[in-house]
Amino acid sequence: MFRVLTVFLLVSVVYAKHEIYEGWSNYEFEVENEAQTKYVFMLEDQLGLDIWSHPGPSHSGMVLVPKDKKEEAAHKLRLAGIKFRPTVDNVKEQLDIEDRIMAAASRRTVSSDITSKAALPLDRVYTWEEVEDYMVRLARNYPDKVTLVNGGSSFEGRPINYLRISSTNFQDTSKPVVFMQSLLHSREWLTQAAALYAIDKLVVNNTESDLINDIDWIIVPTANPDGFVYSHETDRWWRKNRRDDIEFDSEEIIPGLEDWCVGVDLNRNHDVDWASFSSNKVCAGDFHGTAPFSEPETSVTKRILDEHKDRIELFLDIHSYGSYVLYPYGTAILPPNALMLHRVGILIGNAIDAVKLPENPNYTVGNSGLVLYRASGGTDDYALSVGVPYAYTLELTQFRGSNTRFSVNLALLEQGGYETFEGIKAGARFVRDNYRMRKDRQ
Ligand SMILES: *[C@@H]1O[C@H](CO)[C@@H](O)[C@H](O)[C@H]1NC(C)=O
Ligand SMILES: *[C@@H]1O[C@H](CO)[C@@H](O)[C@H](O)[C@H]1NC(C)=O
Ligand SMILES: [Zn+2]
Repeated sequence: MFRVLTVFLLVSVVYAKHEIYEGWSNYEFEVENEAQTKYVFMLEDQLGLDIWSHPGPSHSGMVLVPKDKKEEAAHKLRLAGIKFRPTVDNVKEQLDIEDRIMAAASRRTVSSDITSKAALPLDRVYTWEEVEDYMVRLARNYPDKVTLVNGGSSFEGRPINYLRISSTNFQDTSKPVVFMQSLLHSREWLTQAAALYAIDKLVVNNTESDLINDIDWIIVPTANPDGFVYSHETDRWWRKNRRDDIEFDSEEIIPGLEDWCVGVDLNRNHDVDWASFSSNKVCAGDFHGTAPFSEPETSVTKRILDEHKDRIELFLDIHSYGSYVLYPYGTAILPPNALMLHRVGILIGNAIDAVKLPENPNYTVGNSGLVLYRASGGTDDYALSVGVPYAYTLELTQFRGSNTRFSVNLALLEQGGYETFEGIKAGARFVRDNYRMRKDRQ
């Protein structure tokens, strides 16, 4: 009896979870000029639309529309001449399906044996705790390759741990460092697979030894742990961190969306053009915080960059989705090495295109402010500004067939990890060769 009751309670908890998204919809949309782009941004503030993906040269954008704003949004989009098409009628139903798939996958238990040398199979998205345990296990079982480092704590006090992967314990300063992080935006679950796949291919099943003989790696699988836990437990579409101690004017609240008045967009919080193209409204999805590096999570990234900036040659901030390789600056101002950033961006994009699923679009390479929209305080911009020559934001593939797009199609996690790593390897090998040439000249 007790067991039956427990199961029942669990099930009802799961189904009650996405109540807030009952009746919400997704619209796919296209913009034809900058005025339309600005108009969609305006609607984001006015109606509480949530832009998941911005339309670009190769594909349309996607927006989440609150239930009681659907008609108004449709009306206004039509008036502005913006083409759109509802794709998901009830987002909650999609989320329930995702939960059922995830619950079934979780029953395939992974080894909890601390001595296991196995990788986590990429057949599901793991919880924050599971990834933490995995990292502890790797550091213990591969002591000659892996060091677990505590980079600091999140706002809610979770440790932000990351891996240093090196065949020389980070002692050989003639090697370049590749630094990558995932899940800065917590709802972008596919990016976890990119980090786990890379860790597997560098540590557990390393079939290309040059990658660790010639290069040191820093991998932060969960750059925003509080947001990530919140996206599992409460709000699947949570993007920001969970800072909840900033005062705001009640006029800022979009009616019905008071839950959004928490958190800082970590990808707008870095000390580079801070606050020039981001929101000063606490309730906005791109709220930049109260000061540059006001957030403990971005301070972790800053410390890693400061500690290793002489050797970090490639920085990759992994987001989803859209099939983009984007480079600084978000303000649309090109840095002096823009041509090389573009060239190496094409290497990365082409390497992914070569193995991607045929129904997905090719990657688009470009300056983020020019290709998409202007934004400031981004992680890639900051990395470049402190001297990392090759700094990118990857927007991973938008897998067709998963209607809500952030929703994870488990069958494609492995593919997502695999194709992304093809791009990462292309970039890593370029910077390795380039770094050697520069050293030789010195
Ligand atoms: C190890 O990596 C190789 C090459 O990527 C792959 O073909 C093979 O399936 C992997 N083995 C395991 C056990 O994952
Ligand atoms: C994608 O790139 C490949 C290789 O460059 C090219 O042959 C193909 O036409 C491209 N596809 C699209 C839809 O642009
Ligand atoms: Zn993102």
